Formats: sequence, structure tokens, C-alpha cells
Amino acid sequence: MQVATFVAYLVAAALFILGIRRLRAPETARSGNTLAALGMVIALVATIFVADIDEALSGIEILAGVLVGSVVGAVAAQRVQMTAMPQMVAAFNGVGGAAAALVALSEFYQVEALGTHPETVVASVAVLLSVVIGTVSFAGSIIAFSKLQELALTGSVTFPLQQAVNAIIALVIVLLAVNVLAGGLLLPPLASLYLILGASVLLGVLFVIPIGGADMPIVISLLNAFTGLAAAASGFVLDNYALIISGTLVGASGTVLTREMSSALGRPLRKIIFAGITASATDSKGGDEEDRPVNDVNAGAVGEYLSDEAEKVVIVPGYGLAVAQAQGPMFDLMETLESQGKEVFFGIHPVAGRMPGHMNVLLTEAGVPYAKLYDLEDINPELEDADAAIIVGANDVVNPAANDPEQDTPISGMPILEVDKADRVIFVKRSLSPGFAGIDNPLFYDTDKTMMLFSDAKQGLQEIVEAVKNK
Ligand code: TAP
Repeated sequence: MQVATFVAYLVAAALFILGIRRLRAPETARSGNTLAALGMVIALVATIFVADIDEALSGIEILAGVLVGSVVGAVAAQRVQMTAMPQMVAAFNGVGGAAAALVALSEFYQVEALGTHPETVVASVAVLLSVVIGTVSFAGSIIAFSKLQELALTGSVTFPLQQAVNAIIALVIVLLAVNVLAGGLLLPPLASLYLILGASVLLGVLFVIPIGGADMPIVISLLNAFTGLAAAASGFVLDNYALIISGTLVGASGTVLTREMSSALGRPLRKIIFAGITASATDSKGGDEEDRPVNDVNAGAVGEYLSDEAEKVVIVPGYGLAVAQAQGPMFDLMETLESQGKEVFFGIHPVAGRMPGHMNVLLTEAGVPYAKLYDLEDINPELEDADAAIIVGANDVVNPAANDPEQDTPISGMPILEVDKADRVIFVKRSLSPGFAGIDNPLFYDTDKTMMLFSDAKQGLQEIVEAVKNK
């Protein structure tokens, strides 16, 4: 490898690492993104102009590919709704997995031509890993996209002996891979490789179909880690340091994020992958709401309570806040309450909304200081002496049913924001519908403690702000 290529890849890798580091806080996240993108441009330019390009592909063709990819990526990122971000991540992740698998597949012809010398065994192992992991990630991501977009296979799709079938497919893949490495004892290597490809598609589909609703964010993160590993394996195949480093970064950070999210949801990874017991938005269990009384109030009553009796207020945003684009009025409510000398905090659950960091991004962009956003562990002690908890467009993240040992639900065991510890609980949502996991919330019916303001989040918050100001 030429020195210039090596240096360019090193700079690109350093920028990726620096970029990821800066993503840790909202204030530096934008610049982190820009740095990582710059790293990607450097890596691409080095690949096009400095590295040896196969004769079959001209620099112009590669540039055309880069252009098409950039335009599709930029337009999709501009257009996507914040609430549809997980689907976009799933789609892009699938494309990444497929790319890694295709690169490895094309390299296989070269490895095969080299025969079965010991040095080619390493390359063959990398090719096989890249094909299997990349394809599983591709197929799994397509299914995840379809579930999140509610196109098909929503909810948990299971059939008898599902785990056994998955294990058999995995075993077949291993046997076929051994056959390839042994130079084709039972089947020609190329035929084995295509069978591995087909079996990996099937495994990716069967791996994701039983996983439903509330566990989808964890699965997307896991598939993301898979794609990183597939890309790193492709890096070994191509002897490309930039790909090895960036693939490893994605693999490692995806693995850490998967672990963090599964512990935030109180759902061990083993249970998600092997049990397949989950429900989705379509499995709504909130059916008996019409028969039970609730304390249905108007914004005037909420404003009066906040103005007259509340000194310490905790606001909990959820998915409905994002849908209603109500972050501006939420910021106004904070300012109005603070102007009356009240303490205001925000409680942010790790899976509030539909993607990691969803609420943090929305609120900080609306101007809420980052220091006011409290994580689950930090806000729960504050809730004990709070006068009011205002829950806007959220349900699962505050649902005490998660801790009810009598119920086995998709959110069972998930740590929640303990809003019931506050003196008053005020929900701002349009109806008694449950949230993403489809679980009814007993807090809605606690008429002594809970006020239900049935409204669109934006309108409801605007009315509360007016009511507080007019007191
Ligand atoms: P949810 O439990 O999904 O509740 C959202 C609530 O918003 C609903 O009950 C809905 O009730 C209300 N709503 C919808 N549109 C509204 C509007 N325009 N105005 C006011 N309210 C509105 O949300 P959550 O508490 O944020 O929990 C997040 C859920 O999503 C968890 O189950 C989590 O696992 C899952 N999830 C999270 C992620 C990540 S990583 N954050 C990714 C995918 C899935 P009404 O219809 O009655 O208004």
C-alpha cells in the first residue's frame, strides 16, 4: 500500500473516532457528525485516486456510484420524519450489510482462483464471515424495516420449533463453510457459497420475524453491529485498513449500544433473541378503558394546579410529543413556570420516542438546556418530592404495569420513570390509547392522583401555558 493511502486512511480513522467521541453530548454532536463525514470523504478520495483500482472498474464509474449514493442518502435524510428515523436506520443498515456481502462475494472468485494454500484460508474465512454476517444483517434489516413501517409481519411472528429450525440453518451454514474451506469435498466451493447465501437470507428473516414491538430498537442496534462486523471482515478481504477500522468501530459501538438498551429496557438479549415473546402496537391490550372512570380535566384546571400548588415540576416527554412537534410549547411551559419561581426538570427515559436520544435531540433543539434533562436513574429520586409530573405523549416509559409481577407483557421488567411518586400526575394525550407496546396504563384510572388532559400535545401545552400565564 502506498504511503499516501496509508496516511489518508489513518487520518480518516482518526476523524471517525473523534467524530464518535463528539457524538456523546448534544452540544458537540453536530461537529462530531461533520468530522466523521469528512473522514468518509477522505477515505473515499483515497480509494478512488490513490489505491489501485481494478481495471474492470474505472474511477468515473466509482465516482458515479458515490454520487448516486450521496444524493439518495442526502435526500432521504432531509425528508425523513424524526419519528421514522428507526426505519431509515434499518434500511441503510441493510444496504451496508448487503454491500459488505457483495464485496466479499466478488472477492471469492479471486480467492478460489488462488487455490487452497494456507494463506488463502484466512482470506476465505474472512469472505465467508462477511457473506454470512452481511447477508443475515441485510435480510434481518429488511424485515425490521417492514415491521417498523408497519408494511408486513408486524408483531411477533412465531411457529412451532422455530429455534430448532434456526439452529439447523446455522449448522447447515457452518457445514457448507467447512466444505468451502476444505476445497469442495462434497460440493463445488462456488455452489456451497451460493447455498450459504440463500441460507443466510433465510436465517436473517427467521431471526427477526419473532421479535415484536418494544424490542425492535434493540434488534436494529444488534443488526447494526452485525453490519459493522461484516464490513470489518470485508476490510480483511480487501486488505483495506479504513474498512477494518470503521467496521470494527460500528461493530463495537453497536454492541455496546445493544447492551445498554437491553439493560435500559430490562430485557436480557438472550430473552429477546431466543424467546420471541413480544407484542406490537397492533396487539393493543387497552380495551376496557371505556368502562372505567378517569379524571378528565381541561387546560384551565391544569394551569390552576401548576400555578397555585406546584413548586417542583417534572416533565416527561414521549413519542406523542415528537409526533405533535410540541417541543416549542414544552420549552414555553418550562420558561413560564420558571418565571413564576418554580423548579422544572425533564425526565428522559432511554427508549422514550422511537430512537435512542430522540427526546434529547428534540428538546435541546427547542432550547431546553441540556443540564435540565435527567436520565432515568437521576430523575426517579427527584420524583419523590415533586408536586407534579406532566407526561406529554408518553405511556410505556411511565407505565407501572412494567413492574407488576402478575402481568407478562412486552415491557415487563423495563425500568420506568416513577411518576406515580409525584403528588399529581398530569397526562397530556389524545385518548386512553396505550403506547407502542400496547399495554393499558393503570395510572390513567387513579382518579385521586391523575389528571387526564385529552388533547393533541402541541395544543394542550399551548393552552396550559396560557392558563398558567393568566393566573
Ligand atoms: P408510547 O408508549 O408509544 O406512547 C406514546 C403516546 O403518545 C400514545 O399513548 C399516544 O396516545 C400519544 N400520542 C400520539 N400522538 C399524539 C399527539 N399528537 N398528541 C399527544 N399525544 C399523542 O411512547 P413512549 O412512552 O415514548 O415509549 C416509547 C415506546 O416506543 C417504548 O415502548 C419503546 O420501547 C418503543 N420504541 C422506542 C425506541 C427508542 S430507541 N426510543 C425505538 C422504537 C420503539 P394517544 O393516541 O391517546 O394520543
